[in-house]
Amino acid sequence: MSRKLRSLDWFGKDDKMGFVHRSWLRNQGYPDDYFRGRPVIGICNTWSELTPCNGHLRDFAEIVKRGVIEAGGFPLEFPVTSLGETIMKPTTMLFRNLASMDTEESIRANPLDGVVLLTGCDKTTPSTVMGACSVDLPTIVVPGGPMLNGRFKGECLGSGSFNWMVKEKKLNENYTAEDILEAETGTARSQGHCMSMGTASTMACMVEALGLTLPGAATIPAVDARKKVMAQLSGRRIVEMVKEDLKLSTILTRKAFENSIVINAAIGGSTNFLIHLQAIAGRIGVELKLEDFDHIGSKIPLLVNLKPSGEFLMEDFYYAGGLPVVINEMKEYLHNETITVNGKTIGENYSKTVCYNRNVIASVDHPLQHNAGIAVLKGNLCVDGAIIKPSAASRELIKHRGRAVVFESMEDYHARIDDPDLDIDENCVIVLKTVGPVGYPGMPEVGNVDLPEKILRKGIRDMIRISDGRMSGTAAGTVVLHVSPESAIGGTLAFVKDGDMIELDVEQRKLHLDVSDEELQKRKAAWIPPAPMAARGYVKIYIDHVQQAHLGADLDILKGGSGDTVTRDLH
Ligand code: FES
Ligand code: MG
Repeated sequence: MSRKLRSLDWFGKDDKMGFVHRSWLRNQGYPDDYFRGRPVIGICNTWSELTPCNGHLRDFAEIVKRGVIEAGGFPLEFPVTSLGETIMKPTTMLFRNLASMDTEESIRANPLDGVVLLTGCDKTTPSTVMGACSVDLPTIVVPGGPMLNGRFKGECLGSGSFNWMVKEKKLNENYTAEDILEAETGTARSQGHCMSMGTASTMACMVEALGLTLPGAATIPAVDARKKVMAQLSGRRIVEMVKEDLKLSTILTRKAFENSIVINAAIGGSTNFLIHLQAIAGRIGVELKLEDFDHIGSKIPLLVNLKPSGEFLMEDFYYAGGLPVVINEMKEYLHNETITVNGKTIGENYSKTVCYNRNVIASVDHPLQHNAGIAVLKGNLCVDGAIIKPSAASRELIKHRGRAVVFESMEDYHARIDDPDLDIDENCVIVLKTVGPVGYPGMPEVGNVDLPEKILRKGIRDMIRISDGRMSGTAAGTVVLHVSPESAIGGTLAFVKDGDMIELDVEQRKLHLDVSDEELQKRKAAWIPPAPMAARGYVKIYIDHVQQAHLGADLDILKGGSGDTVTRDLH
């Protein structure tokens, strides 16, 4: 053991408090030797029936425990706030930071020497990793894995790829209620998280690229027996990590973050990646700027042909060799010396991989696309930045000048978007306000709003949309997101009016509102900020402390960490 077990401060004492700490836990039937110097491993579980994507993690905890016990550890499972993407209102993003606080305090306050994070649905990965970083114990992530491919009318159907088109399918392809029901029952047909390259798959790949999972863990489908093996081996490994004192801060160096940005570009990962990776970096004390994502990621070739931008799904990705093939292909772009949870480097872990299907994973010499990463835009409309995913955008729109059609809120959008008298055509730019971190609150995934019915009827599928919100990782389109500062706190977006001209030039990284500074000053002087969205409770804390999107939308008071020390006792 390279340092004293922190659990001994609870269980190792022969005084009254040692008696208290041990004696109540014995009601679960642990033998005496469990309290005498075994590493105590917390299994942090985001299982919940309200988080369908994590529904299988209850069983997975038992498999992890098997591994912990085999290696001589003492596993203790505990629940943390679970965030179910498709169910929670107004958006899980509002609660990511809350879940991270729950994770952080649960780890620090308890007699844990190491932690296994069981994650799946979008926010359950970043929230638990953020919380764990602020304590900085030896920690390993067990990603719950994607669902099997969706099936519909004899073909594959990706998570999210149908629900974003329901309106269009009904209008243009005469889909009936039965068709829609068939799609509804054929998409999520096994345990696991979304199986397109949406945010959950992106997050799983992110943690593997950071070095926080066993090699190959991210892409194994949830129902594949090999996922269970991975969970058991992770249980064994965390006990060794405690003995080696291999902490998060040893693994999560600036170079590890750079690797993760490279891999995210190569897999065509979700735009939500930026906001979560920055929040994690903030917790572990690594300097990461919005511009870094562009500098490091935008020159990277796209290798993975997965929906929403490509053709295949996570199951195909796994059968083709999974993330290990991508990491090996990308080695010339990576820091291969970064250390991972198994104690080996990225270079060592991923040197022997075989690609079984080049249609799913392209080689670095013949990529699907050059320069694939996320572009960071600047201009008077987004002084602190905005982002766009060029691989998901339409070629003909990435340089465009158009007339703004402004919606002051989501409610305003819903009320007017299909009004036949709305003065809009396909060359216009849809501007959506008040969907940022403070404004909504919680920065929901609404940036890819549906086009007006009258434009969809013409067979047009894409228009430029600009907002201070986010977009689901399963969505696509020429969508400018994360405009910062947001409209609700007086960013320029707040002052855009119908008829203003907006210029987007992705090549030049430019987003410009063609209105003079004098006129903008006038509009600013007349502007009435929206009323605060909450007067009490967690949401009040959130709107008072949330940072803007370009900083990762963490609470300012949560940046950094407090370590694993607890100075005061409970009696
Ligand atoms: Fe949970 Fe997509 S809804 S991962
Ligand atoms: Mg999502």
